[in-house]
Amino acid sequence: MKTEFDWPQIFRECKTNVQTAIIPCISTIRMPQPNLGMGAGGDMMKPVDLFAETAIVNTLKQHNVSFTLISEESGIKTYGDSPQTCYITTDPIDGTTNLTHGLPFYASSIAVSSKPDLASVHAAMVIDLPHDITYTAFKDKGAYRNDKKMETSKISSLAEALLGLDINAYNGKFNIQSVLDLIYKTKHIRHFGANALEVCYVAEGLTDAFVDLRNKIRTTDVAAAFLIAKEAGATITDEKNQPINVPLDPKQTLNFIAANKQIHKQILSLVNPNV
Ligand code: IPD
Ligand code: CA
Repeated sequence: MKTEFDWPQIFRECKTNVQTAIIPCISTIRMPQPNLGMGAGGDMMKPVDLFAETAIVNTLKQHNVSFTLISEESGIKTYGDSPQTCYITTDPIDGTTNLTHGLPFYASSIAVSSKPDLASVHAAMVIDLPHDITYTAFKDKGAYRNDKKMETSKISSLAEALLGLDINAYNGKFNIQSVLDLIYKTKHIRHFGANALEVCYVAEGLTDAFVDLRNKIRTTDVAAAFLIAKEAGATITDEKNQPINVPLDPKQTLNFIAANKQIHKQILSLVNPNV
């Protein structure tokens, strides 16, 4: 049973194969895209989601990786004869709505772990597909944008900060007041519509923080970006300042605060003054 793999090489091939696989969808982007039923994560699947997932699965199979797939689209599936040795958590396309509207902000996300929990992720890649940029991280080896090592920003005050905040599809189920306080105190607020990539922006220091307290973000969305941001020096917790270690599962949702250390502290004091 083979357990050691050349993940940087497999990632490079996944990237090329996903990019190639989605070309037919990109060229018909402004046309109506059929719904292919509900994906495992609870959203409608589009052809582009399945094309990207198939490209990832086939690349792993070509390298004889036996694995358990944890996908936002197909759910949990096993491949090969030792699928409990390797877990591949993927959101094949994060930002499908952007993609199908022709907005150039969407990504493909792949995380590798030896166990099905977030803290066990040891290799990660997020591909910014429209800009052909790759974010990668390997545990204890740092995080990279293409070949360039990344670090979180040094901004130390919310009054100067640029913060990614996801309140998309707000359903009244979380304390909006805490987020309003955050909006009042922060210089700039953004939501780009592909959370994996938005967390990589924190890793790169393009933004100072990313906050999603809707309890809607899925582990498939952030499994890879979690390691990438951690390796770049981000502090990542839930709204109670607890480290996030949840099972990797398409249905598992979480609250997520990723930021440089100082900004993280300030965010927490606003969203949860009891901490
Ligand atoms: C979506 C994006 C978006 C977030 C949604 C997610 P998807 O991912 O990350 O930014 O607001 O909650 O579902 O559905 O395009 O993979
Ligand atoms: Ca998706």
